[in-house]
Amino acid sequence: MRIACKFSAQTTVGDFMSIQKPLWSTTSKIDSHKKLSKDIECDVLVIGGGISGILTAYFLAQESINTVLVDASSVCSGQTKNTTAKITSQHSSCYQQIERKFSTDIARLYADANERAIDDFDRLIFDLKVDCDFIRLPSFLYATKSQDIIEKEFEFTRKCRINAVLTKRTQLPFDVKLALRYENQAQFNPYPFISKLSDYISIFENTRVLTIEDNIAYCDGAKIKAKKIVFATHYPIVNFPGFYFARMHQSRSYVVALKNTPLFKAMYYGIDKDDLSFRSYKDLLLLSCCSHRTGENPPIKNPYQHLLESARVYYPNCQLCYNFSAQDCITPDLLPYAGYYSKSKKDWYVLTGFNKWGMTNSMLCAKLVSDIIKGNKNPLQSVLSPSRFNMSTVKPVLSEVGHAIKSLSKTAFYIPSQSVADIKEEQAKIVMYKGKRCGVYKAKDGELFCVDVSCPHMGCTLSWNNVEKTWDCPCHGSRFTYKGELIDNPAQTSLKDNR
Ligand SMILES: Cc1cc2nc3c(=O)[nH]c(=O)nc-3n(C[C@H](O)[C@H](O)[C@H](O)COP(=O)(O)OP(=O)(O)OC[C@H]3O[C@@H](n4cnc5c(N)ncnc54)[C@H](O)[C@@H]3O)c2cc1C
Ligand code: FES
Repeated sequence: MRIACKFSAQTTVGDFMSIQKPLWSTTSKIDSHKKLSKDIECDVLVIGGGISGILTAYFLAQESINTVLVDASSVCSGQTKNTTAKITSQHSSCYQQIERKFSTDIARLYADANERAIDDFDRLIFDLKVDCDFIRLPSFLYATKSQDIIEKEFEFTRKCRINAVLTKRTQLPFDVKLALRYENQAQFNPYPFISKLSDYISIFENTRVLTIEDNIAYCDGAKIKAKKIVFATHYPIVNFPGFYFARMHQSRSYVVALKNTPLFKAMYYGIDKDDLSFRSYKDLLLLSCCSHRTGENPPIKNPYQHLLESARVYYPNCQLCYNFSAQDCITPDLLPYAGYYSKSKKDWYVLTGFNKWGMTNSMLCAKLVSDIIKGNKNPLQSVLSPSRFNMSTVKPVLSEVGHAIKSLSKTAFYIPSQSVADIKEEQAKIVMYKGKRCGVYKAKDGELFCVDVSCPHMGCTLSWNNVEKTWDCPCHGSRFTYKGELIDNPAQTSLKDNR
C-alpha cells in the first residue's frame, strides 16, 4: 500500500521547522472515548493511555479485574504517538553496560525478558487478529567509526545464547566498520494494535488526574476511588514519595518519513555520534537521529534539516512525507522502573524509564505490574523495582540534582539583559517585559505571546527550543507551546500568561 505524502516534492526545511506532521495518527485512527462525568469506583485505576498503560489495563481486564483507564487527552496521544515502533530486544549497546553496572545474570534476565516480549506481541497480535503491519525482521546494531562496542555486545549475546551474528554486510547506503545482526526481531504500526486492545478496556478520555490522596484520584469534576492505582503517565506525576525527579531526565529524538527510497528488509540502529536509525513502513523510510536532553540544544542546529539533507545524499529523489519528534525518560542504570511506586505506598504502582525502548519494555513492565497486582511471582520484580539501589547510579543522580540547582538558581537570580526589541520574528527570548521576567515569542505578524518561564513542575527556568517553537524544561523535560499550553509532563498545568 502507498501512503499519501504531507509535503510537496520541493519541500524545503523552512516548511516543516516547527509544525509536526505525525505519521501513525495521520494514517490510522483510534475510536474516541467519553470524558468521566461522575464519581466512580473500581479495583484498579490505570492513569495514562500510552502503550504501557493500555497493555497493563488489558492484562488486568483479561483476568476480570474491574479496571478503569483514564487519559488526560486521548489514547495514544503522548510519546507513543511518535514512536518508530521497533519491537526489539536489541537496545543499542545496553547489555554490556547493564552487565557492568549489575551482573551477567541480571543482564541475561533482562535480555531474555525482552526476547519474550517480542513473542508476546506476536502472540497477542495473532490471537486478536490485529492488522497492524507486524512483521518479523532482523535488527542491526552498526558502527561507522569504532567496532569495540559492537564486539563487546556480541560477546554478551553469545553468553546469553541470543541469536545474533557479526557482519559487515548491510543494506545501508554506506560502509560500516562492523554490525551485529539480531535475528527475529519485529516492527509494527502501534495505532491499530492499541486501538484493538482499547476495545477490551473501560476508558475515559479528556480526564486528567489532578491530585491523588491515597486511593482516591481527583479529576476535573469527578473522582475515582480505586483499590490500586497504576501510574503509566510516561513521567510519574507525583513528586513525593517516589522522588523520580531526582533519578530520571528526558531525551528527545527526531524522525522523518521519506518516499522514493529503497524498501529496507531490516531495522538499523547506529551507535556512533551522528549515526542514523532506519526502518521501513509500507513505501516509506523512517529515518531518525539527534538525541539530546530535553531543554538543551540538539547536537545539530536543525535535526529535521539534517535528516533530509543526509537522506538526499544517498537518495537524491527522496520526498519528505512526515516529520515528528518525541522524548523518553532515561534512567541512570538503563533499566526501567516498574513495580511499587514507593516503599510507603503499597497500593500505587508505576511503569516508566524505558530509555527509548518502550515497546518491549512496556510489554515486560505491564506484565510485571499486573503480576504483582494479581499476586503472581515474576522474576523481574526485584530487578526492575523502582526502590533498587546501585552504587553506579550515585554519580548520575548527583548530576540530576546539579542540573536542577543550576536551573533553579537561574529562576531566582537571572535578570535578563535583552528587551522585546531584540526578538526577531518567529523567535523567542527571556526578557524583562512590563517589569517582569517573561518568555516572549514574537509571531510573524508581530503579535507578542508572553509567558511565565518558571516551570510549573518544580520551578526550573524553561529554555526556548527554536526548532519546535516550544518552551522546554532542562530539569525533567516538561514542554509547552509558545502560548504556554502544556505539551509534555511531568508538569500538569500550562504556563501563566504574563501579558
Ligand atoms: C523518537 C523516538 C522513537 C522511539 N522509537 C522507539 C522504537 O522504535 N522502539 C521502542 O521500543 N521504543 C521507542 N521509543 C520509546 C517509546 O516510544 C516510549 O518509551 C513509549 O512510547 C512510552 O510510552 P508510555 O506509555 O510510557 O508514555 P505515553 O505514550 O506518553 O503515554 C502516557 C499517557 O499518559 C497521559 N497522562 C499524563 N499525565 C496524565 C494525568 N495527569 N492524567 C491522565 N493521563 C495522563 C498522557 O496523556 C499520555 O497519553 C522511541 C522514543 C522516541 C523519543
Ligand atoms: S519538568 Fe521539573 S521543573 Fe520543569
